[in-house]
Amino acid sequence: MSGDEDAANGRYVVVKALEDGVVIMGLTRGKDTRSHHSERLDAGEVLVAQFTELTAAIKIRGRAEILTDVGKVESGS
Ligand code: TRP
Repeated sequence: MSGDEDAANGRYVVVKALEDGVVIMGLTRGKDTRSHHSERLDAGEVLVAQFTELTAAIKIRGRAEILTDVGKVESGS
């Protein structure tokens, strides 16, 4: 299994924007934590994503519904 496949481990994160202009930032894995990618969603748009060797965490700005294997949470409310 490649590093990417290992890190992602077949698990997905689903983010549904509940307002326009929700921003999802991918944060790097390793000693320093920087934002390496950002994605902007408008209301109703959905992003389905996986963690990878490069991405260890995500940060979400704005109102969104977030589904992961540890449960469901709402940001920005
Ligand atoms: N660079 C950090 C790391 O690999 C990224 C990270 C993982 C992180 N989990 C986090 C940053 C939780 C903030 C909060 O550990």
